[in-house]
Amino acid sequence: MKNKVVMRRSKIHGNGVFALEDIKKGEDIMEYKGKLITHAEADERYSSDIESGHTFIFILNKQWVIDANRDGNDARWINTGCEPNGVAFVHTAKGKDRTKDKVIIEAKRNIKTGEEIIYDYGIVLSEPPTAAELKAWECKCGSPKCKGTMLTWKKPKPVKKAAARSTSKAAPKKRTKA
Ligand SMILES: C[S@@+](CC[C@H](N)C(=O)[O-])C[C@H]1O[C@@H](n2cnc3c(N)ncnc32)[C@H](O)[C@@H]1O
Ligand SMILES: [Zn+2]
Repeated sequence: MKNKVVMRRSKIHGNGVFALEDIKKGEDIMEYKGKLITHAEADERYSSDIESGHTFIFILNKQWVIDANRDGNDARWINTGCEPNGVAFVHTAKGKDRTKDKVIIEAKRNIKTGEEIIYDYGIVLSEPPTAAELKAWECKCGSPKCKGTMLTWKKPKPVKKAAARSTSKAAPKKRTKA
């Protein structure tokens, strides 16, 4: 895949990723790379991400999580926001080997040279965040439509106890083109 983007300092947060050329709606921008680890390892290593408000991990599928802290590429610098111009899809590979699945970030609309690439991290908590978590995950995307938080959460159910929390990013599935 040709490099259509570059990492630079962002007004939103730290480093960000910016378009080096005009990118058309539906075009692949880049793959989200990193070491594949199990969910158990992700929970063990990164359970404090919820408090820090910073994460580099991405749920690939039921078996694997992409850890961009290790072997990550520039996709790990892409920020989130409330009016994203990109979208992250899990491309499910044919066959049973789920390590072959990939996360690809593609353009949600036409993107102009110099624009910062933004996609929705899709972080959904299993229960409402605490005040400290809301502060740690405050969204600073600068959009007039900014919701003020990077988090979404499920409404509490009166009977069932909610499952464990996770702050991994997640993406919808998309069948890889042949
Ligand atoms: C994958 S990193 C993105 C790169 C990040 N800018 C950096 O320099 O490390 C994800 C982290 O960036 C920060 N971030 C991303 N989007 C943000 C936003 N809209 N508002 C505030 N912080 C954001 C959060 O700390 C988030 O956990
Ligand atoms: Zn926002």
